Amino acid sequence: MANKQKIVVISLGGSIIVPENVDYDFLKKFKETIHTLKGYKIVICTGGGKTARNYIDTLKKGGLNDYAQDLMGIDVTRLNAKLVASFLQNCNQNIPTTLEEIAKLLESNNIVVCGGLSPGRTSDGTTAEIAEYLKAPMFINITNVDGLFDKDPKKFKDAKLIQKISHEEFEKIISKVKEGPGQHFVLDSFAAKTARKSKIRIIILKGTDNLKKCLEEKEFVGTIIS
Ligand code: UTP
Repeated sequence: MANKQKIVVISLGGSIIVPENVDYDFLKKFKETIHTLKGYKIVICTGGGKTARNYIDTLKKGGLNDYAQDLMGIDVTRLNAKLVASFLQNCNQNIPTTLEEIAKLLESNNIVVCGGLSPGRTSDGTTAEIAEYLKAPMFINITNVDGLFDKDPKKFKDAKLIQKISHEEFEKIISKVKEGPGQHFVLDSFAAKTARKSKIRIIILKGTDNLKKCLEEKEFVGTIIS
């Protein structure tokens, strides 16, 4: 009998895919890594990054409401999803727009790429929703910092990486962060709450080497929230 593949849901930030221009070297390494991982079904949810924030800010200045800004953001996440899906190959080429479509695509693909699904979320929030819907035990957030720090590592040199933290403690930290369309923090409150409710382990890490180590159950640099 074939082994049942574990489902893992990955949030791939827009700032990782397109920091300024598309990061070709990252995508190349990501492709190599993702196709060598054995025993997993992987859903990758892409973020909108700078482009989304730039487009959202324009609509905001023009007086458009949060809903219109969110729809704009979602379209940008889907553009990034299309880029990642085309680049990766051997995965879905039409970007799903509902949880049901993602589940269906996962039946015939080991890798499914999607962007945002509904307004009022970030791609991290959507990734948590996907993990909950698919009953995935783990949600990995790939970011451009090593993980969660006790203070902002960009401002404080002595900031320490928190390797392990409970869902409850993590939510306390997040509750102090201001949120809105185009917002930016290591994870948002909706994602944290969804993961806590459904007992989904959250991993925050940087780079493909750590992703590979994490999924091969080796030691990696990052934060585990459980
Ligand atoms: P993200 O917040 O996902 O982009 O979407 P990002 O900045 O790349 O996030 P990181 O780097 O992954 O953390 C940008 C905006 O698009 C809208 C929201 O307004 C969000 O702030 N959006 C995105 C939604 O409304 N729903 C979604 O499911 C995804």
